[in-house]
Amino acid sequence: MSGFMNAGNRTMKNLLFALALSLAFQLSGQTRRSAAIYSRCGIDTLATIEEKVNALVACMTLEEKIGQMSQVRHFDDISDEDIATKFIGSVIHTQGPTPGADAAGWQARFAALQQQALSTRLGIPLMFAVDAVHGQNTYNGATIFPHNIGMGATGNATLTEKAAAITAVEAQATGFNWIFSPCIAIPYNEKWGRVYEAFSESTEMTQNLARASVKGYQGNLSDGKTVLATAKHFIGDGSTDFGLEGGATSVGLQEVSQRLLPPYRDAVEAGVGAVMVSFNSLSGTVMHAHKALITYTLKMGMGFDGIVVTDWKGYSRFGENDIINAGVDVVMAVDGDLELFQAGLKTGVDSGCVALERVDDAVKRVLRQKFRLGLFENPFPDSSLIPHIGSPAHRDVARQAVRESLVLLKNKNDILPIDKNTPKIVVVGEHAHNAGLQSGGWSIAWQGTQENYTGATTLLDGIQDMATGSVVYDKDATGNHTDADVAIIVVGETPYAEFMGDIRDGSSAYQLTLSEEHQSYINAYAGKGPEIVVILISGRPLVTTDQINQSDAFIAAWLPGSEGGGIAEVLFGEYNFKGKLPHSWPGSVEDFRGKYGPNFWDPSITPLFEYGYGLKY
Ligand code: BGC
Repeated sequence: MSGFMNAGNRTMKNLLFALALSLAFQLSGQTRRSAAIYSRCGIDTLATIEEKVNALVACMTLEEKIGQMSQVRHFDDISDEDIATKFIGSVIHTQGPTPGADAAGWQARFAALQQQALSTRLGIPLMFAVDAVHGQNTYNGATIFPHNIGMGATGNATLTEKAAAITAVEAQATGFNWIFSPCIAIPYNEKWGRVYEAFSESTEMTQNLARASVKGYQGNLSDGKTVLATAKHFIGDGSTDFGLEGGATSVGLQEVSQRLLPPYRDAVEAGVGAVMVSFNSLSGTVMHAHKALITYTLKMGMGFDGIVVTDWKGYSRFGENDIINAGVDVVMAVDGDLELFQAGLKTGVDSGCVALERVDDAVKRVLRQKFRLGLFENPFPDSSLIPHIGSPAHRDVARQAVRESLVLLKNKNDILPIDKNTPKIVVVGEHAHNAGLQSGGWSIAWQGTQENYTGATTLLDGIQDMATGSVVYDKDATGNHTDADVAIIVVGETPYAEFMGDIRDGSSAYQLTLSEEHQSYINAYAGKGPEIVVILISGRPLVTTDQINQSDAFIAAWLPGSEGGGIAEVLFGEYNFKGKLPHSWPGSVEDFRGKYGPNFWDPSITPLFEYGYGLKY
């Protein structure tokens, strides 16, 4: 994930440069370039994609093929020239320096790398990949949607498709044509640090939203406004024993087939371009090397004709050429893995350990997607998309997603909606007024940020816009505003991503309950006069039974993203609640005693609220 970038620094110079660059390429280079590849490899310009792919692979050297299977970062792993000399197939942007100072700068950086790729003998264009998992969340100023758990609470496939289509436009506007989303895991245990990246504990809900999301991201793949999607992480990422990221998953194959595979089947049917393999092992075999599942089930059984990509450093971590033989097509060759992979695979092919046909199959899968994306004709980013980043129209959709994602768990004596003319409202907690805290991990940076970011609104902003009476902000609940009529107390988790968010006994920064500090925010006001409205910002259900008892109204708001102000519109009754629990809600930490958490399919545990629960006005 990327570092912080100041949108205020956008320079006209960069914009003009990118405009000129893309115009120049569009006017002169494009026809000549495709014609050159086509004539060099004897490809008929009118041939089908499959015919073009076959003809192109037939004229590639082994080094060129291995290059197409290599994915690197735009810094660190390579020099710009390496793109050409190592025939690199794709570039990832993730944690580390941003590609430029603004969107035009990002486009210019990727255009420069693209030029390197186009300067090679065959001029095969690069793909540019990013973890845009809830909006183009690596770009400061983009529209950031609720994390998938919130989309699961909306249960709204149309809205999920719209959000994905907007993410695609904003990703293209910053230079990307491939994104590593959607995560279609089925989380079994709330201790897993990636629960919020998944839509729901329900396979059926995940199937619906996976389909919608792939449709939204990929649309008409060659139109320059859509991106290749990646269903991840294949498979069993969310069902590891005790919720450990990258751990061992011991669920049986029948369960894998019934609960975990169906969303992949839907994603494949929707035409998903890529699938990322998972860090975990399944019944003792690491997933990266699981030939039965990758090749026989996903590729042959489901008919998946796209790219299987490793996860981070998958080649060195999970068995080198074994993973290629298992069916992996593209290797995230980062952090020093590039040389190891390229030399290792060449040796593997030369020595007969990896069949050339396997390499050819992998390369065909890459080229197929590049043709589908229209990259041979239009390899450069489109600068006319830049003004759409964080546009009011995009933010309106994100705000609707925020409103629909809120789940009302309690509303004693119908104290909600709050009257806009309430004489005094006290808003409590740092999460009430901090865009970073309300967005979770994978927001601006890999582990999220605890700062505000460009264009976002907070709940406090929303309340201040709508309330006509006095609104006071008591950030750390020391203000003693017990004379207020209503206390809106916002509590929750601080941002985390991947293993950093796992809850491990005795050794983790996170817990299944609210922090003592946040419990004290509620204690400072509960029973002291004001009506108590608690809003929980979290990436998973937390054990909050006592706090629910203390409050008059309690709302699960998940991780709303950049449009936090939208929460106020529901609190004040401009919109009704629509959200339904995408996970069963645990009543006690005891519910986590086994390998798995309180899931709706576990009859031995009675959740406090069942899957699908959610009140309305
Ligand atoms: C994560 C993936 C992500 C990749 C690239 C990995 O550590 O597991 O979800 O797509 O990094 O950033």
